[in-house]
Amino acid sequence: MEAKLDKQRTQEFARKLFGFYTSGVLTLMVDIGHRTGLFEAVAKGPGGSQEIAARARLSERYVREWLCALATGGVLEYDAASRTFSLPPEHAVCLTGTSSRNLAAASQGLPMLAARLARVVECFRNGGGVPYSEYRPDFTEFMDASWRLLYDGLLIKGFLPAAKGLPERLEQGIRVADLGCGTGHAINLMARQYPNSTFVGYDLGEDAVVRARAEASEMGVSNARFEVLDVTRLPGEPKFDLLTSFDAIHDQRDPATVLRRAAGALLPDGVYLMIEPKASSRLEDNIGSPFTPYMYGVSVLHCMTVSLAEGGAGLGTAWGTETARRMLDEAGFKSVDVVDAPGPQNSIFICRLEAR
Ligand SMILES: C[S@@+](CC[C@H](N)C(=O)[O-])C[C@H]1O[C@@H](n2cnc3c(N)ncnc32)[C@H](O)[C@@H]1O
Repeated sequence: MEAKLDKQRTQEFARKLFGFYTSGVLTLMVDIGHRTGLFEAVAKGPGGSQEIAARARLSERYVREWLCALATGGVLEYDAASRTFSLPPEHAVCLTGTSSRNLAAASQGLPMLAARLARVVECFRNGGGVPYSEYRPDFTEFMDASWRLLYDGLLIKGFLPAAKGLPERLEQGIRVADLGCGTGHAINLMARQYPNSTFVGYDLGEDAVVRARAEASEMGVSNARFEVLDVTRLPGEPKFDLLTSFDAIHDQRDPATVLRRAAGALLPDGVYLMIEPKASSRLEDNIGSPFTPYMYGVSVLHCMTVSLAEGGAGLGTAWGTETARRMLDEAGFKSVDVVDAPGPQNSIFICRLEAR
């Protein structure tokens, strides 16, 4: 017999559930707007569907339906008297332009992950995982697109000064490596900013490394190089003054070895900046945070499964500060400070070999 239901609670949950589906569809609408230039077209000023379609050189009927979805979804405003749509300036900064507040590219994550859904469901039944190779090349593109503006706006002025004295050391000239560098934008920006230092980016993904090298040559930086390398094999010599990893430890097959190798490749007074999603290792602390459902979900759909595919640790995206601290300690880092990264969803672990 069906348990006696609290009718109001049932209705509230049904509404919430449908809200998930609405948000998913609106995410896809944001992706379309980002890919087609429609946000820039609407941002030029209020317009009807004909005018906005003409601005973006797109089919009016599709544009009109898209405009209706975003107007009812609270992204655009609609003026019924003039039948025009507009993008409020506060929304425009989150969807257009080159500042780190533009989050539009992150919408690419949903279709990229959804394309692997059937494979992930197989793993629920049979165990194992979906390997990194099955996510490329669109995963590489997604990571590049969603981090590029953050690096442009915040790497030099926000992330690096988290370690006291680091910008000055970079000015003077030090050796730097980025572990899991992806398309290498962080390395290329640092190399341009600090010509006296030398930089290397390591990644497993050949497609990512090819893009990183191409960008280095486009930017004319000669003090950065990129190598396809499994960082569980990071050599202990020659050592580095600075190691970085941006969102690249929790999905490792063998994160403990990577952290041990990082400690082994660092000079005694060196520093390792590990940027990872901001979460607690205790589920109960993560309930109520707006970002953690996203982290656990992305973990199922990518970060955990790519690790499990290699028989790995499957730490998960929300492995959290406590587990990270323990693993850094076990790897040999005697001093670990944790600060919020610029933007709300990441932490910077400032790791040193010497106790302070
Ligand atoms: C979530 S992505 C982050 C990429 C990059 N740091 C960025 O900000 O765009 C993780 C990266 O780590 C790389 N990776 C995973 N395991 C690796 C390993 N053992 N050795 C080298 N790279 C690895 C992946 O290929 C991927 O590019």
